[in-house]
Amino acid sequence: MKKTPFVTLEKVKEITDQIPTPFHLYDEAGIRRNARALKAAFAWNKGFREYFAVKATPNPYILKILKEEGCGCDCASYTELLLAEAVGNTGHDAMFSSNVTPELDMRKAYEMGAYINLDDATHVEFLEKICNGKLPDTVCLRYNPGGSFSLGNTIMDMPRDAKYGMTEDQMAGAINRLMKLGVKHFGIHAFLASNTTANGYYPELASQLFRLAVRLRNATGCHFAFINLSGGVGVDYRPEQPGSNIALIGDGVRQKYEEILTPQGMDDIAIFTELGRFMLAPYGHLISTVLHQKHIYREYVGLDACAADLMRPAMYGAYHHITVLGKEDAILDHVYDVTGGLCENNDKFAIERSLPEIEIGDIVAIHDTGAHGHSMGYNYNGKLRSAEVLLKADGSFQLIRRAETPRDYFATFDCTEFKFDC
Ligand SMILES: Cc1ncc(COP(=O)(O)O)c(C=O)c1O
Repeated sequence: MKKTPFVTLEKVKEITDQIPTPFHLYDEAGIRRNARALKAAFAWNKGFREYFAVKATPNPYILKILKEEGCGCDCASYTELLLAEAVGNTGHDAMFSSNVTPELDMRKAYEMGAYINLDDATHVEFLEKICNGKLPDTVCLRYNPGGSFSLGNTIMDMPRDAKYGMTEDQMAGAINRLMKLGVKHFGIHAFLASNTTANGYYPELASQLFRLAVRLRNATGCHFAFINLSGGVGVDYRPEQPGSNIALIGDGVRQKYEEILTPQGMDDIAIFTELGRFMLAPYGHLISTVLHQKHIYREYVGLDACAADLMRPAMYGAYHHITVLGKEDAILDHVYDVTGGLCENNDKFAIERSLPEIEIGDIVAIHDTGAHGHSMGYNYNGKLRSAEVLLKADGSFQLIRRAETPRDYFATFDCTEFKFDC
């Protein structure tokens, strides 16, 4: 399927008259439409809630839009908790799913009244210490089943190699201890495969977690309030790739729920999700201008964006589709490596990609950068992180995070000893 940008060259030129490239652009209408589709897919479950994975797009303007659509925040660190708090997502509007958790972070989550998802059985004692024995009413536990996670004949991931979560026996021990300490309700969480566009992932994960909930309830007598299917639902980064069908996924989870939980009288359990990529990736473009071209053993197109703005291609060899704006229908009769300017040869947004003929000054949209895009940015080579712009539902736009300046880059030095001319 052809991938079409959510923005035209004309609109981008309107933006670049005020905000120079590179910047990440987000599509408010798309974000809202998709959040509503997710909600509709799980409407059969009374307590359903999406806790948006803040790590994917940690921008309060985005979190606010999602909050208006009924989503809470899933946080992994102290600063992510501060972001959730800033948009009013405290108490049970926040989920804290972390690992190797510092005391400061755990304390903040506790003080905010967030759902706390313990990554390990030893964290029971850790939590007990932090809250002086006054534990929250509800505590969530992260599960690691070990072995491999398969869908049909396909191995999706290897939980046994993952650092996250605890074993079933450890969960039972933790629940017994937590009940003695006064905890009344429990949650289960697991993230067993990433970026899956197979619609069977959530239903299979749900069936494993539902069966686990029945076993743990029978073993301990505890009450489960929710099951958190976490993230992992993928998007169609490649044009030929099928995307996830959220209506089918929601229905698949419903079937497992009715098959496993309902007959056990456990149909008061709420389903939670902690999606990042599915919620935001397609609704973000990295907008960048062609600065240079060079012709050596390959044809190179150099952009004003680099891996510091979008790390996924360099880090995972990830595919991100590229549209040359204004040339959407032109023939793809040139082959280019599209690069950034880092002193790293993996700083390539595309390798030997068929594209229309590109000229210096052309503006490109790199697709599906709305999640794990700007948020993974870094400052290698003194590159400054780009701006974030919101394309609003009414067609206007707003700068929702300015680009970094050299002052930001030097701000953590002692500037009384060294003078930076900026
Ligand atoms: C604990 C947890 N929850 C949710 C997510 C979001 O995952 P995704 O963006 O793939 O949906 C992640 C991603 O790393 C995660 O670690």
